[in-house]
Amino acid sequence: MQNFVLHNPTTIIFGTDTVHQIGRETAPFGKKVLLVYGQGSIKNNNIHAQVTSALQQAGLDVVEHGGVRSNPLLSHVQAGIAKARLNRVEAIVAVGGGSVIDSAKAIAAGIPVDHNVWQFFRGKKSIRSALPLTCVLTLAASGSEMNGGMVITNELTRQKFGTGNRLLNPKVSILDPSLTFTVPADYTAYGAVDAIAHILEFYFTTRDRSTPVQDRFMEGLVINIMESCDKVLGNPYDYQGRADLMWAATLALNGWTAAGLGMVGFPMHMIEHSLSALYNIAHGAGLSIVIPSWMRYQARLNPEKFMQFAHRVFGLSGDSENCAMEGIAYLQRWFTSVKSPVSLAAAGIQAEDIPLIAENALPLAKLWRLKDYTKEIIMEILSGCR
Ligand code: NZQ
Ligand code: ZN
Repeated sequence: MQNFVLHNPTTIIFGTDTVHQIGRETAPFGKKVLLVYGQGSIKNNNIHAQVTSALQQAGLDVVEHGGVRSNPLLSHVQAGIAKARLNRVEAIVAVGGGSVIDSAKAIAAGIPVDHNVWQFFRGKKSIRSALPLTCVLTLAASGSEMNGGMVITNELTRQKFGTGNRLLNPKVSILDPSLTFTVPADYTAYGAVDAIAHILEFYFTTRDRSTPVQDRFMEGLVINIMESCDKVLGNPYDYQGRADLMWAATLALNGWTAAGLGMVGFPMHMIEHSLSALYNIAHGAGLSIVIPSWMRYQARLNPEKFMQFAHRVFGLSGDSENCAMEGIAYLQRWFTSVKSPVSLAAAGIQAEDIPLIAENALPLAKLWRLKDYTKEIIMEILSGCR
């Protein structure tokens, strides 16, 4: 186990009938708020009405900034920054999934500075202040509700970059699993894949060979995410299943799984972000395409951890590379069982695009200091996803 510092400033309010608290939890941060949300799901499932009435009852003045798209766009963030400045908002409320929360974070970070907010994503500027943010989570996936990360697509450069800062952690996040009852089957599955990816990125990239506490924690989360996802795909209104999936997805990327692992990487995300940037594929769908091939590539270099994964997550036995590969095949079969694509072809992406995708991924590989990932290696991994 390596040295670590763990600090997570986000207050989580978890459970049914909690949305009405968003008003009193936001009020301490200001009287005028920007309400950020997506394309309209929160209007169809009555969450918008619940949130706005709670904010108004707390005496808050609400300026709306809806229209956040999946794989959220820089231009929409910039419009949000301009609107927030014009209306002199003092706090931001995000109601949605990771795309909405990330957009709200980028707006919060962009308001105080006089440069393009994209500079943060290029690593050219550091985040030194941000407007306070509260959030109501409506989809279990990204973990953005309890971390300082944000991912935005620059549609002009066709780049999807992620960056983060503890200042961007939501002050308070309300997690009511019943709000996810209306999440369609595809995004329920994509969210589960995303959460599993967050865990596997750290599980397989730590260089420390002795992290038993973290390993069991992460292996258990992966098992819980698969089991609860299967449950809610069978019955979208299964509260316990939705609650388990929501909390496991939050735990997957709130800093707790990474504690003690030392240096870790995010290579699967580095490659996936190019699929989302170039083809606007759902983030989790892009990950289920990339994960098995990346795992096979990595298992050839470091079979032991993949054998452990096969033993503990899928109950396989054997101490050879075959066992490691079998565990990867089990995971890939689970992705297929929840109808998340496992090939570029299934997503309508041509194999001749592989050099273009690899070229697009290189700047993020550099930014994220993934120096082993040359264009050739990224192409090799993508060739395994045809
Ligand atoms: O836009 P609306 O109408 O709200 O519809 C959304 C969207 O179409 C819909 N939805 C959300 N909640 C719903 C619902 N539909 C019915 N009922 C509900 N309760 O679901 C669709 C997908 O929403 P989105 O926010 O895009 O999904 P997700 O939560 O998976 O977020 C994906 C984004 O998170 C980023 C990804 O890159 C991607 O842009 N990530 C953020 C991270 C972070 N901040 O730490 C890390 C992750 O790796 C990830 O990269
Ligand atoms: Zn992700």
